[in-house]
Amino acid sequence: MFKVELLTRDGAAIAFDAEPSENLLAAAERANIYLPSSCREGACGACRVTHASGDIELDAYSSAALSDAERAAGGILLCRAHAHGDVALHAPFDAASIGFAPTPQRRATIVDIGPAGARAMRIVLQYEEDPEFGRAAQFVAGQFGELEIPESGIRRSYSLANAPNWDGKLEFLIRLQPGGAFSTYLRERASIGDALIVHGPKGQFTLDEASLAPRWFVAGGTGLAPALSMLRHMAELADPCPARLFFGVNRVDELFALDALEEIRAALPQLAVTICVWAPETPPETRWRGFAGTPAEALAQSLANASERPDIYVCGPPALITAVETVALAGGAGATYAERFSAA
Ligand code: FES
Repeated sequence: MFKVELLTRDGAAIAFDAEPSENLLAAAERANIYLPSSCREGACGACRVTHASGDIELDAYSSAALSDAERAAGGILLCRAHAHGDVALHAPFDAASIGFAPTPQRRATIVDIGPAGARAMRIVLQYEEDPEFGRAAQFVAGQFGELEIPESGIRRSYSLANAPNWDGKLEFLIRLQPGGAFSTYLRERASIGDALIVHGPKGQFTLDEASLAPRWFVAGGTGLAPALSMLRHMAELADPCPARLFFGVNRVDELFALDALEEIRAALPQLAVTICVWAPETPPETRWRGFAGTPAEALAQSLANASERPDIYVCGPPALITAVETVALAGGAGATYAERFSAA
């Protein structure tokens, strides 16, 4: 048994013991310490921390979760790391992101389901009344939940698209992955009245309420979901912080949630929205007259003309995150907060 000490971004020291046979995420959970995570199999990067000292061995992982450059800089994935000596780690999150009780599991029923553009679906769930949690959907805008199809072993993480509420409603925008187990369920079998198990809320991709900088959101495809959640939350509070959204898809027929964006814009008049389509094959009858290119390209143009340094919130596939981080660094943005979507 070895000692693991994790120092959070805000200076809290968290300690637990680990056997070489268990990964560090599991070892922490054995001590009732629930660290940020999502896929638990080295694919998403949600559990990435920095290795400061001690002997660590990593199981196989995806380079989308931990790039070679991040590994060279000391990055490790808690769900893939085993201690072979006493270990010190630095976390990129605050102590508030750590749970000291298991993540809630609640039953919910599908109350609405339908397409969201050509490559995604929108589902709305209603929490069942729970003796411990009541009915409310309590989470922080920007977090995600893991949806499990009961008795199937199929469990996937998806960001919430709506704001926290007392009615127990949860909205998700889910990209359909060819051959994906959850996608196949959604496409072929899911219907109103089905029960699902929701594990969550989870994640620390949330608004930095302490920052006074403008908030610029960059979303690729269904990466729009957490941006919608945060913007809806801002709209409910009539938050005056300047805000921009760059939302991108590959083709015009993949666009979705445009009505929702109009509603948010009516409630949050300072919000500027740039919709980006990268679509060389778009047929002439649907020719796109808006921004032609990726949201990272639109961001670069706007940053070049910005009078204040905005904070950037980016959510989407790993390639978009990397492109936006590069643009943000070159363009002199403030903090960059990222949530990567992995294919599942
Ligand atoms: S939880 Fe460790 S990489 Fe996803």
